[in-house]
Amino acid sequence: MRTPLIAGNWKCHTRLESARALARGLRETLDGLEGVEKVVCPPFVYLAAVWEALRGSSIRLGSQDVHWQDDVAATGEVGPRMLAELAEYAIIGHSERRHQFGETDEMVNRKVKAALATGLKPIMCVGEMLQERQAGLTEEVLVRQARGGLAGVEMPDGFIIAYEPVWAIGTGTPATGEDAAIAIAVIRREVASMFGQAKAETLRILYGGSVMPENIAEFVSKEGIDGALVGGASLKVDAFSVIVEMAARLKAGAS
Ligand code: PGA
Repeated sequence: MRTPLIAGNWKCHTRLESARALARGLRETLDGLEGVEKVVCPPFVYLAAVWEALRGSSIRLGSQDVHWQDDVAATGEVGPRMLAELAEYAIIGHSERRHQFGETDEMVNRKVKAALATGLKPIMCVGEMLQERQAGLTEEVLVRQARGGLAGVEMPDGFIIAYEPVWAIGTGTPATGEDAAIAIAVIRREVASMFGQAKAETLRILYGGSVMPENIAEFVSKEGIDGALVGGASLKVDAFSVIVEMAARLKAGAS
């Protein structure tokens, strides 16, 4: 049985007070909810404040990125040991990092290894761009990103990958549940070919890209989709809480 997971990616949003208020609001609505892992990923500067606001609750903390080294001259970066003092998860290789900041599969791979070595749980993102989808290259891109990101990795059970088609992120146009399930099956198959079927069965694969209360059911009702990585809708207590509650209910009903 794979534990479902819903993660909120706050991206470059909130201020100190609104981050605190969002964390407190989510604590009120979601703390007692079981059967789903709940994760919020605030900007680096607010990790400590959100950690404080969530301390002792069941809501976990994640970062939006992680450098592959600590204690080095790397201006502007935040190392895995620093993050592991506050966070439990780290988003790695988000499409905005890949496409706005030039992150490569090789960098993603170094980050995944460094995160695992310090006990952080990576949420490794993969996904094709619109031109790639239109050119029929979706599978090829997913295979390349999965293989590149996971090369030489010692994969723990329950490892997390987020499938986020770039064209669905922040556009209000999500993939269909069917398309997401097909892409996710490709990723699971590829992981099986690298690490074996038993390990691939423990792998948790999330869907991300315009997930909202109105469409979360379409994704989590699919057997192979283990949760969601949520951007815009994670900035509102009500919307994110509904998404988490529906995921918990539907996954409990399916098991
Ligand atoms: P979105 O973002 O839900 O706003 O589309 C998802 C993501 O980028 O993780």
